[in-house]
Amino acid sequence: MKHLMTALTIVGLLLSMSSGAQVPEDGQTSRELGILLEAPESRAELIARGEAVYEYWCNACHGPEMLKPGTAALAIKYQGALPAALTERTDMVPEFVEQMVRQGISMMPFFRPTEVSNADLGALTAFLTDNSGD
Ligand code: HEC
Repeated sequence: MKHLMTALTIVGLLLSMSSGAQVPEDGQTSRELGILLEAPESRAELIARGEAVYEYWCNACHGPEMLKPGTAALAIKYQGALPAALTERTDMVPEFVEQMVRQGISMMPFFRPTEVSNADLGALTAFLTDNSGD
């Protein structure tokens, strides 16, 4: 009985070690999202990933509602010449999105690679530029 208990304890310990949140050390994904990013196998997968990153980090300020500070600021900036919601824009290029995310602008904070990893930023720009140039 004692051996059985010991064996069960060890199995339990091993399980808890291996089933913990997958937080890779390689900077491949956002720690906060806690999901291991396998290299996306298709563009659709990349864009879906970008959308998840956007929902997590950007939507609070850039959601379509005019009350959101990013959306409200861009409505004032563009005065209707461009959509205020980032997801409705068709003019964005990856370099612009990358610069805004890494450097911030006005009241928008910048995001470090430990927050939005380079891989996540790649997915994010793919998502935000997906309907550009149509
Ligand atoms: C705390 C609120 C906040 C968060 C979070 C935020 N933004 Fe912003 N963002 C803003 C504001 C406000 C502006 C407008 C700044 C200005 O020009 O006055 C802005 C501007 C931008 C612009 C420039 C658009 C243009 O045409 O001038 C881009 C691109 C952008 N944000 C992308 C993002 C992305 C991508 C994320 C998520 C990683 C994000 N933002 C997260 C508040 C935010």
